[in-house]
Amino acid sequence: MSGETKFLLPESAIPARWYNIQADMPNRAQPPLHPGTGEPIGPDDLAPLFPMELIGQEVSDVPEIPIPEPLREVYALWRPTPLYRARRLEAAIGTRSRIFYKYEGTSPAGSHKPNTAVAQAYYGKQDGRTRLATETGAGQWGSALALAGQLFGLEIKVYMVKVSYDQKPYRRIMMQTWGATVVPSPSEETNAGRAVLAEDPDSPGSLGIAISEAVEDAATRDDTAYSLGSVLNHVLLHQTVIGQEAIEQMELAGAFPDAVVGCVGGGSNFSGLAFPFLREKIAGRDIEVLACEPAACPTLTRGPFAYDFGDTKQLTPLVPMHTLGHDFVPPGIHAGGLRYHGVAPLISQLVLDGLIRAEAYMQTDVFGAAIEFARSEGIIPAPESAHAIHGAVELARRADAEGRERTILFNLSGHGHFDLGAYDQYLAGRLEDFELPEAEIARALAAIESLPKPAGIPV
Ligand SMILES: Cc1ncc(COP(=O)(O)O)c(C=O)c1O
Repeated sequence: MSGETKFLLPESAIPARWYNIQADMPNRAQPPLHPGTGEPIGPDDLAPLFPMELIGQEVSDVPEIPIPEPLREVYALWRPTPLYRARRLEAAIGTRSRIFYKYEGTSPAGSHKPNTAVAQAYYGKQDGRTRLATETGAGQWGSALALAGQLFGLEIKVYMVKVSYDQKPYRRIMMQTWGATVVPSPSEETNAGRAVLAEDPDSPGSLGIAISEAVEDAATRDDTAYSLGSVLNHVLLHQTVIGQEAIEQMELAGAFPDAVVGCVGGGSNFSGLAFPFLREKIAGRDIEVLACEPAACPTLTRGPFAYDFGDTKQLTPLVPMHTLGHDFVPPGIHAGGLRYHGVAPLISQLVLDGLIRAEAYMQTDVFGAAIEFARSEGIIPAPESAHAIHGAVELARRADAEGRERTILFNLSGHGHFDLGAYDQYLAGRLEDFELPEAEIARALAAIESLPKPAGIPV
């Protein structure tokens, strides 16, 4: 095994194809349904919102999809990203296992999100659109799309959850620096926003409301496509550059992981790293694939597999996924990117089929791992990514207790330079844990009782 710390690839190693796991899954994900008819939706239903090429990727069963050359040239601004052996973390926790991480925080926006943002901007432009509309919570996704719009010459409109717009100005300023127009959501600019404001003029907003606004914006303008930063099949597809590079980098390290770990919000960074390794697992290789989520929003570990809406105002198709219910409002934990009621249908199906396992962690444990990582490896991680750090450390500790030596790889999806307020609270001992009461889950799930049920799931 190599004695190096960093494993770097040349630009010529930027993947030429995305890996489409839909071609290899033992059971395909069930189709999204039209909320009005309950029938599977077709490309025509999606055409007002998405460029045709992305709709094609959404339903494709081809295992590898070529990455257009102009896009590879843009990827070269930050890809290939580095892969590290976490030698100092290993020493700090005293493990006999080897821990590696793939670091996506080197992109201009500081996370994995630009991997799909630039692809969506590219295909939007090819499709003749001049404008993209999207939502953002704390601003990671919005800033990635603002960057992508700038790189491909598209106008970007971002509906930003109001409480973040007011309290976390730095990502808003990044978006504006890259030329995007940002409005606090709920806004006066859409029917959905006006309806919420009429009921509650002081509404702090939510991701579900902001999605409703961005979808309405795109659906009512011919020049505009809707852009989503996670959950959808094509978004997960674009992220698979991460895992493909990691496989080559692990080869440089002279190692192969027996555990692959990532944090899950909607599921895109996790899939990006894990899907190329799941390809090997489906082909017979023994790899544990672990998804890490917050105990305050335990979608995979406690949410049922069901058809549900992607947004609060019920404008999106019904998608088959693990969900806590579309009107579930997660407690205000600091990993804002993991506070989503659902999770990608592809991940949900793979969990159902036993290929992915999930664990949920308390916020203070996660910040404890983040501090340990920052003090050993140097990088201050995004609170979302810190869930993966905690997961990897847990696996190493359990292996030590069993007298095993493992090779663990996790995705460090972004840096935490705009999350220092959360670190401040943790260091001052003011960060609180939330374990969701069963009654709250039952309440939220009542909202989906009347919706169609996926096939093969006992009611
Ligand atoms: C750094 C980082 N990691 C992870 C996530 C979670 O999203 P996903 O599950 O789509 O990767 C986010 C979302 O905003 C994020 O900003």
